[in-house]
This record gives sequence, structure tokens and C-alpha cells, in this order.
Amino acid sequence: MKTLIVVSGGDAPGINATVAGYAAIAARNGDTVLGAKDGFAGALTNQIQPIERRVVGLLSGRGGSYLASSREPVLGAPDADKQLRAILSENEVDNLLLFGGDGTLSHVLPLLHDWRIPAIALPTTIDNDVPGTDLTLGHDSACNYAYQAIDGALATAHALPGRIFMVETLGGDTGHLAQAVAYGAGAQVVLVPEYPEPLEWVGVRLNQVLATDGYALVVLSEGVKTIPGMAEAIPRMTGTRLRYTSLGHAQRGGNVSHRDRALAMEMGQLAHQGFADGIEMGSVVVLEGKTLLHAGPSGGDAKAPPDRKRYDFINGKESVNGG
Ligand code: F6P
Repeated sequence: MKTLIVVSGGDAPGINATVAGYAAIAARNGDTVLGAKDGFAGALTNQIQPIERRVVGLLSGRGGSYLASSREPVLGAPDADKQLRAILSENEVDNLLLFGGDGTLSHVLPLLHDWRIPAIALPTTIDNDVPGTDLTLGHDSACNYAYQAIDGALATAHALPGRIFMVETLGGDTGHLAQAVAYGAGAQVVLVPEYPEPLEWVGVRLNQVLATDGYALVVLSEGVKTIPGMAEAIPRMTGTRLRYTSLGHAQRGGNVSHRDRALAMEMGQLAHQGFADGIEMGSVVVLEGKTLLHAGPSGGDAKAPPDRKRYDFINGKESVNGG
């Protein structure tokens, strides 16, 4: 069996570990693994190379992607299907293993199915915003990266009380990443695009928190629309210094957590088994703590917003313990 790996969209910690794991399983079974450079743009121009197991194995714990990715929507071009089929047949490729986010799962996978190209997609993004799976590859590592930065800020928060620390996560236009980080870090305020809050509420909440805790930690998603005015308004509303940290792309390129390394191996094993069983279209999802091979795209139309009860709990909007 010959598999071509294509990385599509933003990179995420865990891609290298999955490629290394999949290549090891394939080698054990006498199968061959190739990789496309620059995502589908590279696949369509025959930029295909064997996976160097020694190199990718050494990168297992690192973020980024050994195989360069691309966000170019090249599969929409006229004749892309014929071109791709010709390249796959020239390289004697039997199936495609894809890394990508919602677009890859909901558009590319069904398109390849229409073109009769067997493919399995692995939901991969730090944002954890892919419908049909509780966890995407890379999300856990991105949370861990944020904790390191926040723990550093909290050291100062406790040493020099009377400050507000605001930490901005990535997450695109969703708040799953920010809310997961806020909960795990014990932030007293989380701001996400799905639940817009008026600035006045933020001011009132921060004054409450400063009075009880002596410092405040706000975690917010980059997609929150009020960020530009907030950095000026908060010191005015609270009479307190604000220190802002934006994690930026450093959060996407952090080291791979234990959870993501285990998920990488599970994804590799399930995908290889799926191909060996002759699956035509599949995705590997995590549901209620179990990693499963799902026949078809990941399922579900749109990802539900971040859990509202947890959001309210972090923000002190309910007096019970958030259960
Ligand atoms: O891959 C998801 C993500 O990292 C988002 O969190 C972020 O908004 C976006 O990608 C950034 O994209 P780019 O790398 O193209 O700037």
C-alpha cells in the first residue's frame, strides 16, 4: 500500500509525531509513505517525496510541520481532479492521509470522495473548532504553551499585586482555545467572540475581582472585536495598571504535549487500519474520551459554541460551582 500525506491549512503541534508514527506503522507492514510539499499545491505539481523517517522522527516533539502546508484553495481549479488523479497514478499512490481543519474535513474530504480518491482526514488545529470531534490535534499543546506564559505572568501578579494581566490567545473567530486556557489557568475573566460582552461589564467584573483577589487575569481570544478599545478603557474603569500579552503564532508552534503525542499515535494507527480495511472516506475523531475512525467527514454541521456553563463559571456569572 502506498499513502501520500498532505498537510492542508495551518500547522499544529502533533503533525510531525503523527507522520512519524504513521510512517513507522507503515514500515512495519511493508507499506510506503510519501509526502507532498506545500499541501495540495505541491501535490498537484508533483512535489512529492518519500518520508524520511529519521528526520521526522527527530521532530516528533516539535510543533510546525516537516511537510510544508499551504492555504491555497487549488482543488477548485478546473481540471484539478484530472491533474490530481494523474499525479497519484504516476506515483502509484493508493490513498491520501490529510491533516487539516474544518475546511479540509467538510469540503476537501467529500470532494476527494466524489473524485474516487480514498482519503482519511485528521482534524488538526489548535483552535479545536472542527465539528464532530471533541478534540483536534494540537489543541492540548497550545493550551500547555499558554499555561507557561500565564504562569510567568501570575508570578508577577502575586509578587506585585494590584495589576490586571490580559493574555490574548489565537483561536481565529472562535473562543474554544481561549476558554480552555482560561479555565485551566484559573482566570477570573474570559472573553470569546461567541458571547460578546459590553466593556462596562468587563470593568465591573474586574473591580469585583481586584477587590477580592488583589490581581486579575483575563484570557481573551484574538477574535474578540472590542480588543482595540479595551486596553485603554480598562485602566480608566478600574484605576489599575493593565499588562497585555499576545501569544500570537508562538502558541501555534510550541512543543507537543503528552495528550497530543498519544493522539498522534492513535490517529496514525486508526488511519493505517482504516486504509488496510479498504475505507474510502474517513476521519479520526475524539468523542467522549475515545479516539475513533469515523466513516465520512467528521460529522455535524457546525461546532457548538464554547460551553456556556463553564463560561459563566469563569466569569462569576453564577453563584454555584459551575457544575
Ligand atoms: O490554524 C488556526 C490559526 O492558528 C488561528 O488560531 C489563527 O487565527 C490563524 O490560524 C492564523 O492564520 P495564519 O497563520 O494564516 O496567520
